[in-house]
Amino acid sequence: MFDRYNRRINYLRISVTDRCNLRCVYCMPEKGVDLISHHDILTFEEITEVVKTGVELGIDKVRITGGEPLVRRGIVDLVTMISAIGGIKDLGMTTNGIFLDQFAKPLAEAGLDRVNISLDTLDPKRFKEITRLGDINAVLQGIRSAKDAGLNPVKINCVIKNSPREEDARQVAAFCKENDLTVRFIKEMDLETGVFSKVIGGEGGHCAVCNRLRLTANGKIKPCLFSDLEFDVRDLGVRQAYFDALGLKPKSGTENTVNKFCNIGG
Ligand code: 5AD
Ligand code: SF4
Repeated sequence: MFDRYNRRINYLRISVTDRCNLRCVYCMPEKGVDLISHHDILTFEEITEVVKTGVELGIDKVRITGGEPLVRRGIVDLVTMISAIGGIKDLGMTTNGIFLDQFAKPLAEAGLDRVNISLDTLDPKRFKEITRLGDINAVLQGIRSAKDAGLNPVKINCVIKNSPREEDARQVAAFCKENDLTVRFIKEMDLETGVFSKVIGGEGGHCAVCNRLRLTANGKIKPCLFSDLEFDVRDLGVRQAYFDALGLKPKSGTENTVNKFCNIGG
């Protein structure tokens, strides 16, 4: 499918939950956020239906995000259901990695191709400051388990304040080089004020070549991360929600006052 600026849309990012076991300072307030109520969260059957229709329309790349996707109960079953649809060339997940030691192997067996793992520093104290709750050793173990499970490539998402030359970022870069990991530097964004830039080493933020649509955990198809536009798959029906999102996908992002990173998944 093509949007009105002739961009080919083939990539769907799915937020499967707005919950998270961490509280990264740039993403969530310490006390957490108002959570989506249970009956508003799409069921696995509904998500699978959205992906299936997407594949019919030309989606061949899918990423599962959150919140933290591994805190959604039954996540391995969802991966099985999505991968069984067929026609998806690239099925990935973005995770904070804390639970990957436990999940990497079952996820790979369920059909997940690869993971992006968030890691902003290698200093355990700094890691605790940034995530408020996280133990860096769990993430480092998660990274090893992902590699061992054959998830490939394993990419590291590193949020930076200003520059990939800052101390935390340099250490993450060195760690990735040593361990044969791909690193992507993501400058800290602000949805509300529309402050965003291109991901260094990734595809995000390049509006002119954007190939993405997003599905929120409560069933809205969003044409752009930095836009308030959203189309409810339950109200409109899945196909119509896709067509509306496609037809109104903005030329470039402005701002998003209705979502937070924890319910749209970055
Ligand atoms: N700016 C940039 N990236 C963010 N993420 C979450 N909040 C922000 C933000 N304010 C991204 C991180 C993390 C992913 C899940 O979401 O890169 O790896
Ligand atoms: Fe959780 Fe990821 Fe947000 Fe950190 S950035 S609080 S790990 S969803």
